[in-house]
Amino acid sequence: MNYHVLTLFPEMIENGMNTSITGRAIAKGLLTLEAINIRDFAFNKHQKVDDYPYGGGAGMLMQAEPVYLSYESIVNRIGKRPRVIFLTPQGKTFNQNMAKEFALEDDLVFLCGHYEGIDERVLEEIVTDYVSIGDYVLTGGELPAMVMMDSISRMVPGVLNNQESGETESFSGNLLEYPQYSRPEEWHGKKVPEVLLSGHHGNVDKWRREQSIIRTAKWRPDLLPKADLTNKEWNEIRR
Ligand code: ADE
Repeated sequence: MNYHVLTLFPEMIENGMNTSITGRAIAKGLLTLEAINIRDFAFNKHQKVDDYPYGGGAGMLMQAEPVYLSYESIVNRIGKRPRVIFLTPQGKTFNQNMAKEFALEDDLVFLCGHYEGIDERVLEEIVTDYVSIGDYVLTGGELPAMVMMDSISRMVPGVLNNQESGETESFSGNLLEYPQYSRPEEWHGKKVPEVLLSGHHGNVDKWRREQSIIRTAKWRPDLLPKADLTNKEWNEIRR
């Protein structure tokens, strides 16, 4: 997977991504990352990238041309037109299925906006996907781009090792993950649930499944209609 990030703050992207699991994956060559400074494509005296909006209103807009040229520099280098994700609260809300789908691409471009937004005309020309990471407003698209790259990277083969690998994790079957415990067996007077010490894998699996369902019903009941529960499990919840 090759990530190309168009941004006014490349160091934010580089620092964030070259850390922890994504950093390890970049070092191994499973991911590549280039953070391209849109300002490098502003060919005016002060390398200005923003201007006032026509029609008036608060704030400044990122101008079309530097954004377009920075994108074209990628296209010319890699010889194809990859999907371009624009991070915006107006986009479709990001989820695990979208992470899996984007992980199938070879190249992804993330366009990070700042100020009050970006001139609509360049968005019309280059953006293929408008994505939001939730119903709140951030100061720029860099954090959302990193959120997306983090979760997409987990779906790229080889990025997670066996221990980190995520078959039974939250959202895999639209259920939240069960609670987990490590040593010591008792901490602050709280004991690890007996079943987990039993060594009986069948009972452990059953307990974990029940806990996942209880948790989901309590914290994310909106997920339950999409979870594949047996009739018996549905009846248990209703009791
Ligand atoms: N830019 C500002 N807020 C955002 C959000 N919630 N999601 C994606 N991009 C954004």
